[in-house]
Amino acid sequence: MRDGLRNTAHKILSMKQTSKTQTILVTGGAGFIGSHFARLAARRGMRVIVLDKLTYAGNPENLEDIRRGRKTAGLLEFYRGDICNAEMVEHVFAREGIDFVVNFAAETHVDRSLLGAGSFIDTDVRGVHVLLEACLRHKTARFIQVSTDEVYGSVAEGSSKESDTLSPRNPYSAAKTGGELLARSYWTSHGLPVIVTRGSNTYGPNQYPEKLLPLFATNAIDGQPLPLYGDGLQVRDWLHATDHCSAIFFLMEKGEPGEAYNVPGGNERTNLEMTRVILDELGRPESLIRRVEDRPGHDRRYSIDGSKLRALGWRPAVLWEQGVRKTVRWYAENGSWWRPLRSGEFLEYYKRQYGKRLGI
Ligand code: NAD
Ligand code: DAU
Repeated sequence: MRDGLRNTAHKILSMKQTSKTQTILVTGGAGFIGSHFARLAARRGMRVIVLDKLTYAGNPENLEDIRRGRKTAGLLEFYRGDICNAEMVEHVFAREGIDFVVNFAAETHVDRSLLGAGSFIDTDVRGVHVLLEACLRHKTARFIQVSTDEVYGSVAEGSSKESDTLSPRNPYSAAKTGGELLARSYWTSHGLPVIVTRGSNTYGPNQYPEKLLPLFATNAIDGQPLPLYGDGLQVRDWLHATDHCSAIFFLMEKGEPGEAYNVPGGNERTNLEMTRVILDELGRPESLIRRVEDRPGHDRRYSIDGSKLRALGWRPAVLWEQGVRKTVRWYAENGSWWRPLRSGEFLEYYKRQYGKRLGI
């Protein structure tokens, strides 16, 4: 039964590959990683349909260069809409003829999920269901669910393999786990060719300034304190956005339906190490670091084993320290991108999250 489904999935993919221009739906494509992926897909000649709700984290400016690019102009179509809205999703599928779906759309910030989890359950679980149903109806050749290394929970020793038990510990990662398990169930139950990717902590240009690197870089540029949680010795494995996207693209073509794949950067560093490189690149003093009250239930370490993906032939290209320094310079040179974002909703959130911690 399973082999039959696999053969069907491969057949569908190769049939679609013979058509002239392939069409890919990139949900959440106006966000950080989604916009890098939309750029990659357009540069590779695909028609890219972005469906994005434009929450606080979505920014159509992230797609402007694709719209204007010499090679990519005319390949991008943008729909503002919610993946939880089944009518809207059906409209996009029926109108555009979608070959592949890569689902980046999500509520993504752990700290916000601790302040309120409702929107995380909506988008990261219910929204995935809406997309899966549309893919079934339209016989989509691949559905890539972009998941996260956080689904394994905190890893004291060694590195998580894809077959390990999932043990998420915060509302964000619990919702992402729900979404990916639901997606994989559509392969076993309905033969929908689903692939799950579990990427590690991603950094690069165009990341909303609430996450560690862009928050600390933009604070440091303005001479404001950097709120480092707890002892700062928590470990994350850093992956550049372009590497994360190249792995997803690679898996869309080479991954086995029904499988999950870890996508590690291979760069495990403490938050303190990361903070020091940011400050050094900007020529700012370490006295800007403020040790503040820790994130509740803070996962101490993430570490994923990348041998399954490596065996297929994929490798990351960006070296950690070079990539971080270049990204920090991007923030230093692109105030026009992030300054408007650090207002209104951001300032309200900042006060709620850091007011007591920083005494502001
Ligand atoms: P982001 O917060 O920058 O972007 C999320 C995008 O999704 C935004 O454009 C937002 O407007 C859109 N969106 C949110 N809710 C939506 C909805 N209901 N309907 C349509 N669009 C909606 O996130 P990111 O960091 O680019 O992450 C993208 C994906 O990658 C997420 O699924 C995340 O879980 C996963 N991921 C992120 C990282 C990381 O370190 N950033 C690592 C591994 C996996
Ligand atoms: O591991 C993949 C995950 O990485 C993704 O699935 C998430 O969407 C993404 O947000 C990221 O989650 P983290 O919680 O690891 O990222 P964040 O940038 O929020 O925090 C990184 C580390 O830095 C974490 O140990 C908490 C710490 N930190 C973060 C902030 C925002 C601080 O010490 N101070 C801060 O102000």
